Amino acid sequence: MSNYLKNNSIEDSAPAHSLWSSRLAFVLAATGSAVGLGNIWKFPYITGENGGGAFVLVYLLCVAAIGIPIMMGEVLLGRRGRQSPINSMLLLAAQEGKSPRWKLLGWMGVAGAFIILSFYSVIGGWATCYAGYAVLGEFSGATADSIGSLFSALLASPVKLLIWHTVFIGLTILVVARGVRSGLERAVKFLMPTLFVLLLVLVGYAMTTGRFLDGVAFLFTPDFSKLTTGAVLSAMGHAFFTLSLGMGVMMAYGSYLPQDCSIVKTSIIVSVMDTAVALLAGLAIFPIVFANGMEPGAGPGLIFQTLPLAFGNIPGGSFFGALFFILLVFAAWTSGISLLEPLVEWLEEHRGISRLTSAVAGGLAVWLLGLVTVFSLNVWSDFTPLGMFASFEGKTLFDLLDYLTANIMLPLTGLLVAIFTGWVMSRSSTREELGLENGYGFWLWRTLVRYVAPVGVLIVFVYNLS
Ligand code: PHE
Repeated sequence: MSNYLKNNSIEDSAPAHSLWSSRLAFVLAATGSAVGLGNIWKFPYITGENGGGAFVLVYLLCVAAIGIPIMMGEVLLGRRGRQSPINSMLLLAAQEGKSPRWKLLGWMGVAGAFIILSFYSVIGGWATCYAGYAVLGEFSGATADSIGSLFSALLASPVKLLIWHTVFIGLTILVVARGVRSGLERAVKFLMPTLFVLLLVLVGYAMTTGRFLDGVAFLFTPDFSKLTTGAVLSAMGHAFFTLSLGMGVMMAYGSYLPQDCSIVKTSIIVSVMDTAVALLAGLAIFPIVFANGMEPGAGPGLIFQTLPLAFGNIPGGSFFGALFFILLVFAAWTSGISLLEPLVEWLEEHRGISRLTSAVAGGLAVWLLGLVTVFSLNVWSDFTPLGMFASFEGKTLFDLLDYLTANIMLPLTGLLVAIFTGWVMSRSSTREELGLENGYGFWLWRTLVRYVAPVGVLIVFVYNLS
């Protein structure tokens, strides 16, 4: 048992780590974590692959009925434990008189964040590289061919990918090493509002393409014939991914939340903002895709292959293109920071390694695992270790890491959070921490985490297996 655990009980009001300076700081940091490549890169491309409206509807439903209550659960666990996800779970399980094995939940979260950051950083590297291209005017006068080869040239070059992956991890370490207040807070206070403004500018631009309403129809007119069980699983997995759930991130951020801030209100604000950014990104991207006769189902390369072409051929395009990719880097950066935090918080607690050393050591380890993704895109692109199973056919190591985390680890950890907060912790502990009286709000939250979320996750899992 670490010293942190012995010295830090709930009654002890002095937390082990420093806290966010205000509720706004937490909201910005948590929104910064939630809003990222998931909203701007992944949401449009998986929506495109899964046929639009019906997929979006299932995703919205998962956010509302499963995601938001589980986010409240995670923040609650973090704040009550006041430590890294692993030590918080150990402490809370002990307080409720339950098995110390619950710390596995914390471990799964920390491991999930570690794996996700390893490939997240490589994609963040693509975005950083494209921000550079845009600023240098590389897209002007581009053709579909030239943009296609620009993208394949990047993926084909382990050296380029490695350089940008290293830059991205470096940026992440830089902020995390400075700590909660001077690092994380300062960065998000500046980055989040800028991002919102840039996104609105882009939607404004999309309105001038003449195909804005087609984009709206694609996102919001459900065609259920296009909804496969695989699509439902990805919609649920994405709800976890985009809200940063199931990997200890919201627990780690919750552990720095001052006691007088409402967990319920802040979780709702963060989720609504995250969803708004995803929908705005869709509204910015699909009209451009349609106006240029492009394919919405183009896959992970969607925004990297289609948007530069559009930006390269419109008046003011190099300006808007540069804005867009800079925005993407900002969004990815604040998420990357949050992905490194659970591990660093734990390393700090463990034998008191300094924050700087923890951030550098953790970042280097992630960087190393990131090499798997870097090579999956080129020299190992034919290596499909699970190719003998139909559902993993053609999946590279990178695809498998993505599948394992988004579709399995996150929902599973989320399920455990729902079970722990809904069934294992006493009613009075959760009610006290959420600050809800015995009324309708608490009943609703508890029904959602006790029944709706676990049953929803299990049904989707079972359907997908059969
Ligand atoms: N939510 C982030 C995004 O949408 C990704 C992320 C996942 C960040 C998990 C932290 C934890 O891009």
